[in-house]
Amino acid sequence: MPIDPWSNETYDDYQKLLDEFGITPFDPRNLPNPPRLLRRGVVFGQRGFDIIENAIRQGERFAILTGLVPSGKMHIGHKMVIDQVIYYQSLGAKISLAVADIEGYGARNISLEEGRKIAIEEYIINYIAMGLKSENCEIYFQSKREAVKNLGYILGARTNLSEMSAIYGFKGESNMCHIFAPLVQVGDILHPQLEQYHGPIPTLVPVGVDQDPHIRLTRKLAQAHRLVNVKETKDGKIGVFAKTDSDVEKLLDRCQAALERKKFTMFKKITRYKALYVNDASTWDLAKIDEAVIPVELEMGGYGFYPPASTYHRFMTGLGGGKMSSSVPESSIFLSDLPEDGYKKIMKAKTGGRQSLAEQKKMGGEPHNCCVFELLLYHLLEDDKELMSLREKCLEGELMCGQCKKNAGELMKVFLGDLARKREKCRNLLGEYLRED
Ligand code: TRP
Repeated sequence: MPIDPWSNETYDDYQKLLDEFGITPFDPRNLPNPPRLLRRGVVFGQRGFDIIENAIRQGERFAILTGLVPSGKMHIGHKMVIDQVIYYQSLGAKISLAVADIEGYGARNISLEEGRKIAIEEYIINYIAMGLKSENCEIYFQSKREAVKNLGYILGARTNLSEMSAIYGFKGESNMCHIFAPLVQVGDILHPQLEQYHGPIPTLVPVGVDQDPHIRLTRKLAQAHRLVNVKETKDGKIGVFAKTDSDVEKLLDRCQAALERKKFTMFKKITRYKALYVNDASTWDLAKIDEAVIPVELEMGGYGFYPPASTYHRFMTGLGGGKMSSSVPESSIFLSDLPEDGYKKIMKAKTGGRQSLAEQKKMGGEPHNCCVFELLLYHLLEDDKELMSLREKCLEGELMCGQCKKNAGELMKVFLGDLARKREKCRNLLGEYLRED
């Protein structure tokens, strides 16, 4: 089953996604004070995250780039990405958020004006109310940022219609704006690394797992536009291999000089093979070597992109059991719901309870099959011990659904009320976040 970023599917079997698509399990243990979603396995997979982890541990700069399609209302499932963005911001990340108004137009037929309104009223106001800071943070519109569209256009040279159709299922009748949208997203993800923005910088894209096709495409195009390939050969040698045909000698000599500054000493250059072997390097040094030659690529007119890293979060189950989706209002708790309505929605939600009270007392409930437990786990209960003990009581048949829903409903009421109050204070701050180019 290919992943389709524009479908309404749920992904029950996350393990299978890891196996099938080569996504790496996410391990939060080396991060400082990981927040709920990272601690509790809601963020379950990643690509290339080691570069970000290193940057965080070494106190080096890194960037976060993610985006939203302005269609429909913001629900509590959409909150997950921003929870993560706010965490990384607290660690010093430079934040860029894309309003994907071109994607909204091409894939969902939402006009740019309408998209702008939805983005601000539904999403951005809530981001600020949730605690996103304006320092080191910018929110831009795809339709207004020339660098994003240009980059998408240019990098598009290294893919083709067959590949795009194989990834996204485009057909002859697919509209061209939709077909171009993934390349605009490639532009989104890589443009912070252009010299007019941050220059080459480790970049993390926190998203739902439905976005993995875009990530794979972007990582491929970033790599395809590098001037060198740093890799281990089949016979176990570490080497820098030029991918261009011009100035190969100069390129390799400069790479060698850069690596000498990183204390490597044993080189063998074979210009005929376009290769510079680093004989005192091991597999562990690959990332370090790759990073060391980036400035050389810039001098030689290349982009020197770091491969963008990604993390993937699970989706929220809808209140009735399917996927939580803005187009099915009963399935979702919207951030703009009145606190009372949030409470009522939880009282009506499908739980992991049994047929009868007697049965539940005997067999216990099924928290792993319960969207109320999921709300507590993802959003409402901060204390891990409290969550574990609640789960224990449910499994033991001591805690019944009625009582549990009431608790969760109260927590939701407080959350929604608090957020609504904060939203009102945020309206005059929008200008500090929004960029018009
Ligand atoms: N395609 C994303 C979605 O459907 C939105 C998006 C656009 C995005 N540009 C991005 C996400 C860049 C991450 C990074 O939600």
